[in-house]
Amino acid sequence: MKIIGINGSPRGEHSQTKRLIDAVLSGARENGAETEVINLIDYDFKFRNVCSICLQEEKCVYLDDFPRVYTKIQEADGIVLGSPVYIDLVTAQMKMLIDRMADGIQCQSLYGKYGCAVATSGDHAEGAVVTYLNHFLQMLGASPVGGVSAALGKDSDAITKAEGEARELGKTLVSSIRNKQKTPALEAFHQRYQEKFKDVISGEKPEWPMDYDYWVKQAWIW
Ligand SMILES: Cc1cc2nc3c(=O)[nH]c(=O)nc-3n(C[C@H](O)[C@H](O)[C@H](O)COP(=O)(O)O)c2cc1C
Repeated sequence: MKIIGINGSPRGEHSQTKRLIDAVLSGARENGAETEVINLIDYDFKFRNVCSICLQEEKCVYLDDFPRVYTKIQEADGIVLGSPVYIDLVTAQMKMLIDRMADGIQCQSLYGKYGCAVATSGDHAEGAVVTYLNHFLQMLGASPVGGVSAALGKDSDAITKAEGEARELGKTLVSSIRNKQKTPALEAFHQRYQEKFKDVISGEKPEWPMDYDYWVKQAWIW
């Protein structure tokens, strides 16, 4: 079982958010997972421009690091997203990744995978960022199993306390993957998205032949 942690902080290895990702991954390793962590700041991503060539040709026109990172995500069973709060939201580095992965929503490309999110802040919006990151995973078809956040300016022990919670979250992530954990609310969400995109994909068949073929292969359209 593979779990990948993705750190959106431009502070990379010196990041407090990465401490929480590392703690999730350490809990996951204790329960038998193989883990890897990447700092998005070390990768070159171009801005997305909606050229949509990939929908016809199954490859991105940009020669950057996105395909390499996306392959790592697709090969993982679990995904841990982490970002510091930058002006009430995720960082630009994390948003670049999110925008480049957006086509995965219509293909439900992370369906069957599990994930979780962590965030740190000075004093506010860390919970909102965790909610947003988990919602993004869910929109791609993954099942989020929880989140941990810490407002570091409020309490000097906040990061240490959060690291303890994050280790437990890592263990929960592993057991959810192992047991193929399902909850009625999440299943209903995924079902709604599949219904919605079934119509979209069928209607766009001439423009999005790759997506249509993918859906047929998944037996979501027959
Ligand atoms: C550009 C910028 C914007 C920030 N915006 C917020 C904010 O809106 N709310 C907040 O509580 N902290 C904010 N912070 C503080 C960071 O979220 C906080 O220091 C975080 O723990 C940094 O995490 P890192 O060490 O992983 O980079 C901001 C910091 C920077 C540099």
